[in-house]
Amino acid sequence: MSEQSVLRHPEEFEVMIDPERIAERVREMGHELSRDYAGKDLVVVGVLKGSMLFMSDLVRHIALPLTCDFLRVSSYEGGLRSTGVVRFDFDLTQPVRDKHVLVVEDIIDTGLTMSFLLETLRLRGPASVRVATLLDKPEGRRTEVQIDYVGFTIPNRFVIGYGLDLEGRYRNLPYVAAMRTSARES
Ligand code: IMP
Repeated sequence: MSEQSVLRHPEEFEVMIDPERIAERVREMGHELSRDYAGKDLVVVGVLKGSMLFMSDLVRHIALPLTCDFLRVSSYEGGLRSTGVVRFDFDLTQPVRDKHVLVVEDIIDTGLTMSFLLETLRLRGPASVRVATLLDKPEGRRTEVQIDYVGFTIPNRFVIGYGLDLEGRYRNLPYVAAMRTSARES
């Protein structure tokens, strides 16, 4: 795929995690999850839209009879910074009572979205709730949140690709790219 066809301003971004590293790490996480959830009734809950690529790759490496569901919450208004306001856009299609829930996120930054989500899901009586995220930006944290499975811990930079967007674009990049500091300031 030509970078030019996806990125409108290629000079503003640099590749942070290439497709091979992503694939390898996602495979490892899938194997770990297969071991941890063996014999359990697992429902993998993707947080849309950002988790779409990670979730679809991850579940292919979990060798268990799991089910998939999706929900959508948002704390960003499509820009670069969290607003701190979390909105529930749409909900799961099935109850999670007595099920083991694995919430799959693209990135955890302030932690506001995930803590809201965990609070909401725990009220529904699941057997357990854990979190798997592709990326973690611990420096951005504004509330404490337990993350059980982390793909990559990254510095506090704005990233796009492999599901992550900037104003709705770039989710289809096969790698994770970081915005250059100079581009962010301009
Ligand atoms: P939090 O509530 O600040 O933890 O943010 C979680 C959500 O913000 C993620 O699911 C993303 O949609 C978005 N987000 C946070 N950091 C980034 C980033 O660097 N690039 C793109 N989206 C981000």
